Parts: sequence; C-alpha cells; structure tokens
Amino acid sequence: MLKNLILSSYLVIIFVTAHAQQTNSKVEQLLKKMTLEEKIGMIHANSSFTSAGVPRLGIPELTTSDGPHGVRPEHGRDWTLDNNGKDFSTYLPVGITLASTWNPKLGYSFGSVLGSEAAYRGKDVILGPGINIMRTPLNGRNFEYLSEDPYLISKMAVGYIKGVQDQGVSACVKHFIANNQEKYRSGINVEMSERALREIYLPGFKAAVADGDVNTVMGAYNKFRGEFCTYNDYLVNQILKGEWNFKGVVMSDWGAIHTTKDALLGGADLEMGSDLRMLPNPDYNKFFFADAALKMVKSGEVAESVIDDKVRRILTVMYKTHMFAKRKPGNLNSAEHVAIAKKVAEEGIILLQNKDAILPFNKNKIKSIAVIGANANRENAMGGGSSQVRAPYEITPLKGLQNIVGNKIKIRYEQGYTVARNAEANTEMIKNAVEAARTSDVVILVGGWTHGFDYSVWEDNAFDAEGKDKESMNLPFGQDELIKAVAEVNRNTVVVLYGGGPADLTSWVNQVKGVIQAGYPGQEGGNALAEIIFGDVNPSGKLTVTFPRKLADVPAHKLGEYPGDSINVHYNDDIFVGYRYYDTYKVEPLFPFGHGLSYTKFEYSNLSVINDNGVVKIKLLIKNIGDKAGAEVVQLYVKDEKSSVKRPEKELKGFEKISLPSGESKTVVFDLKKDAFSFYDENKKQWVLESGSFDIMVGSSSKDIRVRKAVQL
Ligand code: BGC
Repeated sequence: MLKNLILSSYLVIIFVTAHAQQTNSKVEQLLKKMTLEEKIGMIHANSSFTSAGVPRLGIPELTTSDGPHGVRPEHGRDWTLDNNGKDFSTYLPVGITLASTWNPKLGYSFGSVLGSEAAYRGKDVILGPGINIMRTPLNGRNFEYLSEDPYLISKMAVGYIKGVQDQGVSACVKHFIANNQEKYRSGINVEMSERALREIYLPGFKAAVADGDVNTVMGAYNKFRGEFCTYNDYLVNQILKGEWNFKGVVMSDWGAIHTTKDALLGGADLEMGSDLRMLPNPDYNKFFFADAALKMVKSGEVAESVIDDKVRRILTVMYKTHMFAKRKPGNLNSAEHVAIAKKVAEEGIILLQNKDAILPFNKNKIKSIAVIGANANRENAMGGGSSQVRAPYEITPLKGLQNIVGNKIKIRYEQGYTVARNAEANTEMIKNAVEAARTSDVVILVGGWTHGFDYSVWEDNAFDAEGKDKESMNLPFGQDELIKAVAEVNRNTVVVLYGGGPADLTSWVNQVKGVIQAGYPGQEGGNALAEIIFGDVNPSGKLTVTFPRKLADVPAHKLGEYPGDSINVHYNDDIFVGYRYYDTYKVEPLFPFGHGLSYTKFEYSNLSVINDNGVVKIKLLIKNIGDKAGAEVVQLYVKDEKSSVKRPEKELKGFEKISLPSGESKTVVFDLKKDAFSFYDENKKQWVLESGSFDIMVGSSSKDIRVRKAVQL
C-alpha cells in the first residue's frame, strides 16, 4: 500500500516535471520566433482590459476582468459599458463576507464559480482575490478584502485561488502590498518596519504564491519605502521573484506604472490601464512599456533579456491555463453557482448579539414585522468601483423576508432614511418608522454602510468604495437617531448591518436585542439572511475584523498614522494590527475578532498538547450541547510567554469549521510547526523561535478562550 503510494507520488512528480519541461521548451521556441516589437506588444495593455498576442504565431490576447466577487460587466475595449444586458454574472458575497465563513472549502467553491464564469465570458485572468490587510475601518475597499489577520487571509485566499485556477483561468492576487487605504492611494509612500512587513503584510501574498501557486500578482498603486510597489526592487525582484521563486506575471494596477527603465528593471512584467484622458482613443504606444521600452532596448540601455523574461512569464501562464488549446467552456449563473453564492451568504452572515435569545423568530408566534431601513430595499451589486457585478437578480433583505413569510406574517416596510449625499436624519421618515415599530411585534432594521449614492457615477461611490475612504466610523444618513427612536418603542428590535466592516454602534447597541453583520452577501443574500432570522439556517459566521468601540481606539489611528500627510504614512502601529493590538494593549472592543453566535452551544473539553519532536500536536473534543444542529469555528491561538521582543497577547495559528448535529461530538486536531511560534527578528533578518513556554489557547473567538495549556519548546 505504502509502496504503491510512494510509486504513484513519484510518477506524479515525473509527470509534472516532464510537463513543465515541455512547456519551457515550447515557450523558448516561441520566444525565438518573436520580433522585439512583438515582445514589446505583449508587455503592455492594448485596450481597457487586454494586452496583445501575436496572431502570426498563434499567441492569443490576454484578457483580464475584475473582479473579486463576480465577473465584471463588459467595459468594451474603450471603457464603454456594454448595456445589452448579456454581461451579467453571479454576484457572489464580497471578500469580507466570504472570509467570515472561515471555511476555506467554500473559498475553493467560490473561486471555482468565478473561474467557470470567467471562462464562459472569455476571460483569461480574474482580478482577485483582494487580500490587503484591514488596517483601519475607514478603508473604502475593506469590503473587497478578507481580514485583519494574515493567517486567516492566507487560508481563505489559497482556497479561492485554487478554485479559480482549477477552471483553467488565472487568479490575480492584489494589491501587492500595503494598499491599506484608498485616500492618497496613487502616490502615498508607506513606511513600516521589516517585522510588520514579514509578520503582517506579506504572509497572505506568500501563501498565494507558495501554497496557491497563483499565476499573476497585481502591484499596488502606492509606494513602499520610497519606490512604487509594482516595480519595487526589494518587494518584487528580491522577495516575490527571489525568495519566493514566483514564476508568474507581475501586472500593474491600472495606470500604476510611471516610468520606463526603473519599472522594467524593478520587476513589473505587464503594464495595464488606459490613459483615461485620451478616451475614446488612448494611444497605447505611448505607454511606458511600449515605444519608450522598445527604444531603450534598441539603444542597448536595457537588455533584451529583461523583456524576454517578462514575455516568458506571460507565455508560461498562457500554457498553464491552456490558452493555446481548447479550454473548458465554463458556465454562467448555473443552479450550482447560485447555490454556492447562497451557501457562502449563509455561512458568512454573522450573528453579533442575541439578547434574550430574540432570534430566531418563530413563524408561528409572530404576527407582524416592521422592516425598516433603506438598505432593506437596496441593491448593491453594481456599487463599489471596479468590483461591480451586473447580477441577473439580487434578493434584498425585504424580498428575502417576503419570500420566507409569504402571507403568514404581516410585513410593514418603512424606509427610515434616505441614501443621498449629505442626507441627515429625516423627521418624517423616522416618525413613520416609529409608528411601524410601535404597531408591530418585532422590528428588523436594515442599515449600515452602502457603496455610495448613484452607482453610475464613480464619484458618488462614497463609503464602501474604491478610490475613497470613509470619513468617520459613524453611520451616515441619521441612522443612529432612527435606530434609537425605533428601539425606544419596540425593544424587540434586530439591527442588520450591511457593509464592509465596523461602524460605531455604541450609541444604541445596548438598546436593541439583536445585531447581525451581513456584509454584502451577494445575489442570494436576502434569502440567506431571512433563513437565519427565522432559524432555517443556524448562523456560523465569525468576524474577520474587530469591531472597536470607537475610531480613536483603532491602532492605526492611535499608534500609527492615518492617512498620513499625503506623501508619507508611517505604520507605527507596527505588528499591532486588529486584535493583536486590542488584546495586548487591553483595549476592550465592542465585538472581538473571531466573534459570532450560534443558535446552539458548543462545549470544548479534553485538550491535550504534546510536543512531538518540535511539532506541537493538539487535540480536543467539541460537543454540540444545544438542541439544534450547528457549525462552530474552532480557533487556535498561540502566545509566547516570554520573549526578547514585544509579542502579541495572542495570534491565530489554526482554525477549523466543524458541523455537528445536536448532542454529537467531534475530535479536532491541529499540528503546529516551528513557524507557528516564531517571530521575525530584524537583527538576524530571519524568523526566530525562542525556546520556552508557549500558551496554546482554543476557543470560540479571540476573547472567548475555552481551554488552554502550556507547552515547552
Ligand atoms: C483597481 C484594481 C482593478 C483595476 C481594474 C484598479 O483601479 O485598483 O483592483 O482590478 O482597477 O479595474
């Protein structure tokens, strides 16, 4: 048996190596046949989302598309939105909601939907996942990203990437690196310590390369230590292509290259974007990687081998994704894709607060519901910027609730507030909402963030939006006043928050019984939400980002700088991002990282921790002691009890989501290797494990540790 296994693994290695060698020689043969002009044509955009091929040699164009949670509507070669209605695709939950499932297998399914739909729509590269660290709640693109924690990001991103690439389409992990704010994104220089870089900002990208085998990486708009990220010699040549041996393509964000020679030598392979000022006829020959590059190679200022390396990478990715052969046709909005979108929403919506077990609502007892809030009746798919999706339909919360209650329960809807620029509390609307709340058994108030006002106008994307950050953590449009007034007359109020992360909830959170964080749960989101509210689905999502009490508590704002002085921003918060800060500096969050409630209860017991020759083997028993089936995210944190450098109070080093019927138990095991206990030593310039005692903590959130034991290393 073992012999067979060894033999078959050996054969797989031989096959993979032989295949890679074949690809290499095909690439080299093509390269030899190409003129310099043809090579140059392949390293810069030739339309809004494509770069040129070489028809005479059968090399196709490379076609990219956003984005992270659905294939973007067609913008044509000239950025003219195609309005023939045939460019729809499945609107999946956004990144933050996907990550809230804490289920890498769902990450894979999610990626496979994207890959399949991209293939169907004729795309070669999907511009996702977006994995920048959530450093401040104000970042306008947090909704597209995954978490404040690099370990969780790594696990979710790898699943996503493999899902996309197994469909024969490339994923593109972005934005490499430190695009942690939209404000000043196109030029701000980020300064951080080497330790913060290694421990917080790089691991997700490293996992994407080392474990996900991602085909392409998108450089960030911003600078890092004085040089633009896309051609930052240290980041791209030394770390990404050097230390990590990345063999794929580094493409620029759209318009992120600003020079020729440094960018060619700094490791950028493909210049993307369009000079929008030149629309409708951008001259792509004026690109930095076009005529200017050609001239430099011809004059000998830049060696042709530099260009060859870039073309070699592009061709290799083309072979890897079968662009020269017949590809899988893919599928669009199939029943299976819709089911995956729904499943991600079911597992990604988070129950944050459930006083007096107000949820789930009982269909047989409740006679009337007041549904309040503009977000209850608002579609989101086309908002947010480049990640927009034209959904075939979108189930809003109101529709989802109507679907589930039919005519059994009376629903009265009141908008409560207006989504409009500078809109403030509206007395008349609040009065109507209060009246609905007063005359109904329960209230579901759906508010939170929106992408913006009018999605057809880029500048109107205001909150969860590309190119802009939120101005504060306070909910807009007078929502605090509305919620307080409603809760005053009906204590059975559940607030559902849409949006890409935390808001300041402190002025009303104690007055309402339920709070649900829905993120942006995609085209099936309203159905999933309604099923959670009525208990047909038991919630199992967990926060991937801390909900602080107030903005002033956030480490980026308290210890570090945000947004910087428009030229530089210093990350003096260092490695103390998210719960690493709140725990270590004893700042009480409103809802901690990893938090999320269920309608059942889980018991943690029998923890055993053994150091087996440097591998720490952890085993424990989880039992569902409630009366409903449910899923729990078992979270494993590690603390170094004594260290020569300041280390966080705890760090996530493992998690597993398990489903258990009522009354049943399951053993969960984790194996932790040396890297789980190490820190990045700036003097030694390497990861270091200092022997001594480490705490192993396992729990239901970062604050709800149920069992712990020390281990000597
Ligand atoms: C965004 C990228 C996106 C690209 C193409 C840029 O503005 O930052 O995330 O993939 O546009 O739409």
